[in-house]
Amino acid sequence: MSRTILVTGGTGFIGSHYIRYLLKRYPAVQVLNADALTYSANRINLKEVEGDSRYSFIRVDLSDPTEVKHLFERKIDEVVHFAAESHVDRSIQGADVFIHSNIIGTYHLLEEVRRSQTVERMVHISTDEVYGSIPRGRTREGEALVPGNPYSASKGSSDLFCLAYANTYGLPLMISRCTNNYGPNQHPEKFIPRMILHALQDRLLPIYGNGLQERDWIHVEDHCAAVDRIRKRGEPGEIYHIGMEQTVSNREIARRILTLLNKPGDRIRYVSDRPGHDLRYSLDTTKIREQLSWSPQISLEKGLQQTVEWYARVDDEWLQSFGAVDPKEGEGNRE
Ligand SMILES: NC(=O)c1ccc[n+]([C@@H]2O[C@H](COP(=O)([O-])OP(=O)(O)OC[C@H]3O[C@@H](n4cnc5c(N)ncnc54)[C@H](O)[C@@H]3O)[C@@H](O)[C@H]2O)c1
Repeated sequence: MSRTILVTGGTGFIGSHYIRYLLKRYPAVQVLNADALTYSANRINLKEVEGDSRYSFIRVDLSDPTEVKHLFERKIDEVVHFAAESHVDRSIQGADVFIHSNIIGTYHLLEEVRRSQTVERMVHISTDEVYGSIPRGRTREGEALVPGNPYSASKGSSDLFCLAYANTYGLPLMISRCTNNYGPNQHPEKFIPRMILHALQDRLLPIYGNGLQERDWIHVEDHCAAVDRIRKRGEPGEIYHIGMEQTVSNREIARRILTLLNKPGDRIRYVSDRPGHDLRYSLDTTKIREQLSWSPQISLEKGLQQTVEWYARVDDEWLQSFGAVDPKEGEGNRE
């Protein structure tokens, strides 16, 4: 009998790549996508799998316990939990929805996983941002959480609930913490798509502060492969870091994008910094490399070129197909 993998937040950027990843690799799997279709969801991301009999969709807001209960009326064998509010700038404008979706939503999901007793594996998708700014070196799994903004605080809180449920109720769950993702299908409000779209439109590229903030950019396909490795082979109760171990400044990313598009290098405009902006994120990924034999396959050079080409080709239909609310325009870069 085929197994059902529940993917939450599957209509968003990373979740939609992961659903396509699963359906491509596992002919016998059933994939159930549960997503609230918020402003950041884009159903075109999953157009190519909509006719696939192994794929189904249910609209669920995880912050509503009745909806989550209804979701678990089906037999679910595994859970990969991507659903979250994901944008730091929006969390600074208002944390309410981040608390509801990321913390309370994860709590309701954990409760139903616990009650169902059918879920054999669960991966909770988290972020390097829970550690706050790392001025030098690389953070290892299990170091203290020092979130620097409401988004990271909500993700860190959900991680702690996951660890508590694994410990208290023996839930078979793993946590993955990944560095910044980029690639096709990412919402235009995020840093790399925003830089590319501004460059394509011959607009100035707005960068927060002095642009020296450093991130460890990983291609979304490499992230999906790592998540899948954790789903299949991770040890319950463990945290796994995912990243390239290669930090690059925002200014350098913008410059590389301008070069790839043959645009003049002086198109960068520095704008007032984001409040509490973390200077640097950097993870040590020895554990996943050594214990689960995962390593990234897509270099930043190759991945960035592919991503620039994707956005250069993207049509208006994709740009206009996000959730129920239009993406907000504003100053500065997003991540
Ligand atoms: N993008 C990154 O660089 C990055 C890096 C590390 C970790 N992560 C984590 O990966 C996950 C996915 O990120 P993304 O960039 O694809 O985000 P995204 O914003 O593109 O997608 C999030 C999806 O979750 C859904 N969602 C939001 N609230 C929900 C709710 N209450 N109930 C059900 N569905 C809901 C949205 O509709 C959307 O489809 C998040 O948990 C994020 O914290 C992201």
